[in-house]
Amino acid sequence: MTEPLDPDEYERPRPTRVGPVRVRVPAKINLHLQVGPLRQDGYHELTTVYQAIGLYDELTARPGDTLTLTMEGEGTGELPLDGSNLVIRAARALAAYTGRQPHARLHLRKHIPLAAGLAGGSADAAAALVACDVLWDTNLGRDELAHIAASVGSDVPFLVLGGTALGTGRGERVSPVLAPPHSWHWVVAIADGGLSTPEVYRELDRLREAGLPLTDAVPPEALMAALRQRDPEVLAAALANDLQDASLSLWPALVDTLEAGLDCGALAGMVSGSGPTCVFLCADSRHAMAVADELGAMNVARTVLTAAGPVAGARVC
Ligand code: C5P
Repeated sequence: MTEPLDPDEYERPRPTRVGPVRVRVPAKINLHLQVGPLRQDGYHELTTVYQAIGLYDELTARPGDTLTLTMEGEGTGELPLDGSNLVIRAARALAAYTGRQPHARLHLRKHIPLAAGLAGGSADAAAALVACDVLWDTNLGRDELAHIAASVGSDVPFLVLGGTALGTGRGERVSPVLAPPHSWHWVVAIADGGLSTPEVYRELDRLREAGLPLTDAVPPEALMAALRQRDPEVLAAALANDLQDASLSLWPALVDTLEAGLDCGALAGMVSGSGPTCVFLCADSRHAMAVADELGAMNVARTVLTAAGPVAGARVC
């Protein structure tokens, strides 16, 4: 006969976390971004390959009597901290899903610039989901978090996942790309200002109405093969971004940034997502540092830095 359980064993209250929960979340770039036609719901059908790169925001969640957000770093004073902020929207979405009160004191340390095509806002939303899930002891799995993430924004599920992943639908359906472990080395040229993602998509629709052809909706096989081969020259030839024409149309000086990166010896350059950040693929970390040094001196970007990918998505640290 087994001993009956000591009632304390199962009546013991679940531990509530009183200490802060700190979550680090990366920026994303799109190695391949194929934009289909405009859908009825105002989104475009996408086939994209995301990669999370080592440029991070950090979100700290503490217990609180209401839901508050404070911040420091990139965008402080510009970014609204009210219910329109994706962090607050994500915390509320998790609370609604789990039946919790959305009470937390959230603090964001931002390094990822705003409206840069690096999904900084979506990254912060992913961080809020992961942090509040721990703070509130709701313990959802990554799949459930990704489900809530999709209701907050198209890129948010990827930033919960991280790594390199194929995104379909409006970008919210993500599955990891299987490839042998390898670090890709990027130079990231951050512009002095931002571009609105909806405006860039609208500009693409306008250019297409004016005759810019739709690209064929095929899975990015060459890119997948390049990732498996771990050959930067092959990957360089397979990078593609349908939003680039629209970003360049709205911000023509980015052509100079792209040319400058190639002049500095990068293997390839492209606009990241909806821009205006430009990213340059390099052969290895030393090459990336050399390109970044030279590009930084050319005055074609506000900040030039290096970042490797893929890295993990939003994680408690
Ligand atoms: O999903 P998210 O809120 O991040 O998207 C921001 C905007 O980008 C959308 O309102 C839409 O204008 C545009 N978008 C799009 N098609 C997608 C993703 C985003 O048109 N697949």
